[in-house]
Amino acid sequence: MAGRFISFEGIDGAGKTTHVAALAQHLQQAGQHVVTTREPGGTALAEQLRSALLQLPMDALTESLLVFAARRDHLRAVIEPALSQGNTVLCDRFSDATFAYQGAGRGFDLQVLATLEQWVHPALQPDLTLWFDIDPAAAAIRRAAARQPDRFEQQDTAFFTRVRAGYQTRMAAAPARFVRIDSTQPREAVWLAVLAALQARGWLL
Ligand code: TYD
Repeated sequence: MAGRFISFEGIDGAGKTTHVAALAQHLQQAGQHVVTTREPGGTALAEQLRSALLQLPMDALTESLLVFAARRDHLRAVIEPALSQGNTVLCDRFSDATFAYQGAGRGFDLQVLATLEQWVHPALQPDLTLWFDIDPAAAAIRRAAARQPDRFEQQDTAFFTRVRAGYQTRMAAAPARFVRIDSTQPREAVWLAVLAALQARGWLL
């Protein structure tokens, strides 16, 4: 039996990461087998590519090649085996992030990204993508309270406005896969929206 693949998306500062951990715990308590992972990352190679991506200067094509290289390794080593064993996979970001950050944010060629996506995962998409949507100015205030910013977190509000629009475009192209969650709400309301998205699919009581 194939498991479920759930991705978590949104601009930096949207607050998705705490909900990945909370949902993993909640599903485990409900008796499900859960694998929690992230992109770029999730394998030794992909975590090294992540460090390079977040720290070293490079152009948008190099960023795109690195994230898809990391994704291929992650799919083969972690995501595909976990799904084929019937686990629920919770992934903090997946390919929508590439279309949003490298495509919409950096302005990189969407056709090239679509080609890379076809090479790396021709048949697989998340069963559900939770898009934690927040106004870029509100997200900037949240990020300012956090740690040392990486290459993406240093970007200005105009960049994150484009990234947000990129997520909107991805959702418009695959509305059945996406649930948009208003992440300007208090954390408890966001959490209830996460639960509601799974309940609506019959994946949780
Ligand atoms: P993020 O997921 O926000 O983790 P943390 O909460 O630890 O900061 O960091 C990953 C960063 O990588 C984020 O700024 C978005 C960027 N990114 C891309 O630019 N393209 C991609 O395809 C992925 C998966 C992430």
